[in-house]
Amino acid sequence: MAISDLPPLDPEKGEWDEKALSRRDFLEAAVVFGTLAGAGAVAVSVPSMRFLVGKSLEPPVAQWVELGKVSDLSANDVTRVNYSVRGTDAWREVTKRGTVYVYSDDGGESFVALDGTCTHLGCIVQWHDDEQKYKCPCHAGFFTREGEVISGPPPRPLRELPVKTENGVVFAEI
Ligand code: FES
Repeated sequence: MAISDLPPLDPEKGEWDEKALSRRDFLEAAVVFGTLAGAGAVAVSVPSMRFLVGKSLEPPVAQWVELGKVSDLSANDVTRVNYSVRGTDAWREVTKRGTVYVYSDDGGESFVALDGTCTHLGCIVQWHDDEQKYKCPCHAGFFTREGEVISGPPPRPLRELPVKTENGVVFAEI
């Protein structure tokens, strides 16, 4: 049954002319309207969902932060590097800031980079060279030079970051 087959509206009541509309016609019309409404809802909701989800389902793009030249990074000490990079989250462009600690266990042949974000509630830990440990100023969390938890509320070690060296410059993936 096509929509054009439906009986006209009763101009006085402003409703369907019930006498002219049999139960069978009514059910067929309901099926037609239901199908059209469902198709319309799908046509509207699919692009809307894509907009709402944005890029959140896409794999994140790796971002490499420059930590310094191999010749400038101390072969024995822990070096703190603060970074600020532009990137995108699911919907907008954002500035991502953080701190990386970098050190070497083999005299500068290779480097280890730790994310300075405390694994408890996200404060930035501070390296204390005299005590050879990181301290979190927020709730007294302590970590070894390698990032293992010594004491306090942090549930996990500091996150170790992938490191690469290109043309004598060390990078960490954040
Ligand atoms: S945020 Fe570091 S111990 Fe709580």
